[in-house]
Amino acid sequence: MSSPGLQGAPLPGVARLDVDRIRQDFPILHQEVNGHPLAYLDNAASYQRPRAVIDAISHYYEHDHANVHRGVHTLSHRATEAQEAGREAARRLINARERAEIIFTRGTTEAINLVAYALRESLRPGDEILVSQMEHHSNIVPWQLACQRTGARLNVVPVSQRGELCLDEFHRRLNARTRLVAMAHVSNALGTVNPVAEITAAARSRGIPVLLDGAQAIAHQKVDVQELGCDFYAFSGHKMCGPTGIGVLYGRRERLEAFPPFQGGGDMILSVSFDHTEFNELPYKFEAGTPDVAGAVGLAAAISYLEGIGLEAIAAHEGELLRHATQAVAALPGARIVGEAREKAGVLSFNLGSIHPHDLGTVLDHQGVAIRAGHHCAMPVMEFFGINGTARASFAFYNTHREVDQLVAGLEVARRMLA
Ligand code: ALA
Repeated sequence: MSSPGLQGAPLPGVARLDVDRIRQDFPILHQEVNGHPLAYLDNAASYQRPRAVIDAISHYYEHDHANVHRGVHTLSHRATEAQEAGREAARRLINARERAEIIFTRGTTEAINLVAYALRESLRPGDEILVSQMEHHSNIVPWQLACQRTGARLNVVPVSQRGELCLDEFHRRLNARTRLVAMAHVSNALGTVNPVAEITAAARSRGIPVLLDGAQAIAHQKVDVQELGCDFYAFSGHKMCGPTGIGVLYGRRERLEAFPPFQGGGDMILSVSFDHTEFNELPYKFEAGTPDVAGAVGLAAAISYLEGIGLEAIAAHEGELLRHATQAVAALPGARIVGEAREKAGVLSFNLGSIHPHDLGTVLDHQGVAIRAGHHCAMPVMEFFGINGTARASFAFYNTHREVDQLVAGLEVARRMLA
């Protein structure tokens, strides 16, 4: 899927965001850190939450909380409805065919682990899982664990010096032994938007399922799993203005039905005896135990909030911030941008001379600027670029050009102090 407006000029017909007004919805943004206005540029790690999400969760706990699916009483019905409304919101957001294809998990990591766990049943020695060199550890380690148990192996598609997936290599490595393609939709470390529609089409033409790690894409562009044609799509609530501790695994019904359960316990069963357990239907077969109802409530509120702003306008605004920041940071003496793909989301990874990224992060924090520094849970791609890590500024729709200027001014301070 292309990412309109992320890197190019603002799209004609896409409304400009009223960022000053939007910022009023985010109480946390209005504070000073170390004597400076907070510039929160660590959104790839976790978003901040608007008042609507905080209020929805409070309202749920103040008025509606009980356990779900079990009770005959009113509060239990309300909690069940709230949980299912969250599922319906997630279905709507990614245009899944049906709610049964939306499995609640603790986040992207657990969603990927669920698929990796299920796949162990069918992996055989010599089978391959195709991943890319730019994956987050959560889209590497679960497959490694599955491979260790089964004798399967990882086949890794390299990236170019620009940080783009080598598509020729992808096509070359897709073969009769491939049992799954597992790829980031957007790289958290480089910002690269991968050509996932092409990847999915190529894999599916050979009957190979595709899992997309959507953690960094979901709040930045419109995702339509039917249009993408993927078999699995994973994302986290906290990377889209929702709560931590809840996420989604989308899976095609036929794939999920073929999977064994992930965890055993209450709610994932229809009947239990000591001889035999009959499992529940989708999606409950994969949701053992009391679910995170407040998480689902917060997720639904976050989705409504993002839909209200509009993902096209979000993508356009973040694209402008990225362009501004890239030009300004690249102009600093000694700057090296890590990840220069033609299609990028609002992630700017860089180094400044020989200054350690952690030192950059610390000096920036003293200027009120929050970024992430380190390997970003993507050590293999750092190794490819021959570095231990980067400083990473990552943008959300509530960020401003003034905050980009604050970042650049903070980097000037760091350069004078440390270079
Ligand atoms: N995956 C998150 C990040 O990129 C934590 O920062």
